[in-house]
Amino acid sequence: MRSMTEDYTDRNPELAGLYGAHVAAVCERHDRALANAGAAHAVVFAGCPKTVFLDDRQYPFRANAHFLGWAPLPNLPLSYIVYTPGEKPRLIYYLPRDYWHAVPDEPAGYWTPEFDVCVVHDVDQVPALLPEARDKCILIGEIDDPAHAFDIERINPAAAINILHFARGVKSEYELACMRLASRRGALGHVAAEAAFRNGQSGFDIHRAYCRAVSQSDNELPYDNIIALNANSAVLHYTELDREPPQSLRSFLIDAGAQVHGYASDITRTYSYDDARFAELVQRMDAAQLDIVSRVRAGVDYRELHVETHRILAGVLADAGFVRGDPDTLLATGVTSAFFPHGLGHLLGIQVHDVGGFMENESGTTIDPPSGHPFLRLTRRLEEDMVLTVEPGIYVIDMLLDKLRGADAENHVNWDEVDWLRPFGGVRIEDNVRVTADGCENLTRDAFAAMV
Ligand code: GLY
Ligand code: MN
Ligand code: MN
Repeated sequence: MRSMTEDYTDRNPELAGLYGAHVAAVCERHDRALANAGAAHAVVFAGCPKTVFLDDRQYPFRANAHFLGWAPLPNLPLSYIVYTPGEKPRLIYYLPRDYWHAVPDEPAGYWTPEFDVCVVHDVDQVPALLPEARDKCILIGEIDDPAHAFDIERINPAAAINILHFARGVKSEYELACMRLASRRGALGHVAAEAAFRNGQSGFDIHRAYCRAVSQSDNELPYDNIIALNANSAVLHYTELDREPPQSLRSFLIDAGAQVHGYASDITRTYSYDDARFAELVQRMDAAQLDIVSRVRAGVDYRELHVETHRILAGVLADAGFVRGDPDTLLATGVTSAFFPHGLGHLLGIQVHDVGGFMENESGTTIDPPSGHPFLRLTRRLEEDMVLTVEPGIYVIDMLLDKLRGADAENHVNWDEVDWLRPFGGVRIEDNVRVTADGCENLTRDAFAAMV
């Protein structure tokens, strides 16, 4: 099996070398956010685990993304970062004394020198470590229990949050290094998953092969794996993990990522089992996807690229015999939207659908998706060092195709050919790219190419 040796730990020397500048950038955006909100201190809450109704189990903990933006600590509930401009950020590190559960390790790793780390064993120790003037604080995070706010009244004020969200769209060198690692980790899983598919394994077992290859459990993955065989590939978020393989294998669509220090990859590949025509369609979609990727550069309006993608996919659909007509007609009549009903892509980072994709500026003004394209999540003009996905797809989704019937659009569809495609479901190819001044760095293709 192909493999790579990577250092995902918080001793990774490359990350150690980049982390200080990252924290400086995070401080700088908090300086501006605090000034705009008229506040003196930011208190960033990691979050609190949620308990299942009438039960003593807890849902998997997901740290506040703003907390993760400061420090690579996805499993440190009830902790806080306190930032006062000009001072070293303080990390209130909650290390409970608990003999029922494993507790976090003692603080160690490349991130520790950047903080005044204060270990607390009891939440009662937190208030003394917060700024005394609570009325000069803002709290960033999800507060379900008012006790966790310690009398801070200004929670997630828009005047600060908009600045933080807009800034998160552009990644630091440290974040880019984490995301390259996350892509390479995801690529390992994809190669293992393809092998499991070719071995005739079930969706569930393909998923297990994936998790083993990336060495992450379901709860550590950045999103639920989409492992779709045959017609299930047309269900955009097929997360069922079927326990039995289908009787006959035709196609495999896998949309799965990995996470490194809180940063995600989000990768989709589609495979033909042994059908030459479907393999050719996958190849055409791959070429179309690379064509779209080649148009990514700073300054591009992603709304325009999304609409241009419809024209490009009109060409793919026509060449493959599923539709007839010129691209503009196929777009205007809604034919391309029936086959490609989601957005071209989205910002990627700590969150798989990272914040800020609709923001026009840091004041909170937003940009709507183009009319007729409500699912596009990235309407913002592209800037250097943004990371985003490029994920065109075509699918046979009858509830959408049926709407074409009885209208002009019906005559543009070769329904017999669509019947042929239906048992294969669809094709999606998704890469993660970093925007540069004159193009982009393709994290995903680089990751696959780096495998030996
Ligand atoms: N994996 C979810 C997405 O591609 O947006
Ligand atoms: Mn995806
Ligand atoms: Mn995606």
